[in-house]
Amino acid sequence: MKQEDIWNADAARRYDTPGTGMFAPEVLGPAVDRLAGLAGQGAALEFAVGTGRVAVPLAARGVPVTGIELSRPMVEQLRTKADESTIPVVIGDMTDTVVPGEFTLVYLVYNTISNLLTQAEQVECFRNAARHLRPGGRFVVELWVPELRKLPPGQTAMVWESGPGYIGLDTYDVLRQHVVSHHFRFDGSEQARLFRSPHRYIWPAELDLMARLAGFELESRHADWDGTEFTAESRSHVSVYRNPPSS
Ligand SMILES: C[S@@+](CC[C@H](N)C(=O)[O-])C[C@H]1O[C@@H](n2cnc3c(N)ncnc32)[C@H](O)[C@@H]1O
Repeated sequence: MKQEDIWNADAARRYDTPGTGMFAPEVLGPAVDRLAGLAGQGAALEFAVGTGRVAVPLAARGVPVTGIELSRPMVEQLRTKADESTIPVVIGDMTDTVVPGEFTLVYLVYNTISNLLTQAEQVECFRNAARHLRPGGRFVVELWVPELRKLPPGQTAMVWESGPGYIGLDTYDVLRQHVVSHHFRFDGSEQARLFRSPHRYIWPAELDLMARLAGFELESRHADWDGTEFTAESRSHVSVYRNPPSS
């Protein structure tokens, strides 16, 4: 399963759900507020910008936003909402693609660092963020906390959501820290639609070590974009890493 095959034209067409899910104002609003505050008077770079779910409202707030994105179909979807002069995008891999400019903020949201399937690629992603930031600039990562406490010994699959017309199921390879999310959508017929995405899960402590390898320090970690305290029960986190200010 290659990322280019997963984020194809069909996935891109189905991605946007205006006003609901990840596009709901109560989900998106606090994220955009926080990112705008962190960008300050400077420019922002979104790794894996996708269809511009975050970039479009952030740019509308007056923050200059550039994107890096692997999938052309996702960018074509973004182009229905913002042109190249509003949100420039470079097609490429966020681990090594370099875009012109200097940024006060690089951000990588919605668990997307886990789309990189090796530790080495994830470390390179931090290094690439550092490469684009001015001294004192910040790299923000939004990521879920691995739910291994829910996985009984010997079991390799776990249903994490089950409701009318939808089942979400994860399969684990704990040796490689891999999890494949399976999203089954179905109606009364015998057919179901399946969307699968592979991830490499990362513990917060491992993420912090990757950041240190790239020269960052952890500035803050909260359970969400509103600044809720991060605890042992938190299911995800928003972590802000800072490049050292120049001396
Ligand atoms: C879950 S979507 C997130 C899109 C957007 N950031 C958002 O919050 O809605 C994941 C995106 O990551 C992109 N992606 C996956 N691996 C990538 C990589 N190595 N470099 C750049 N983009 C990548 C996919 O093509 C897809 O558009």
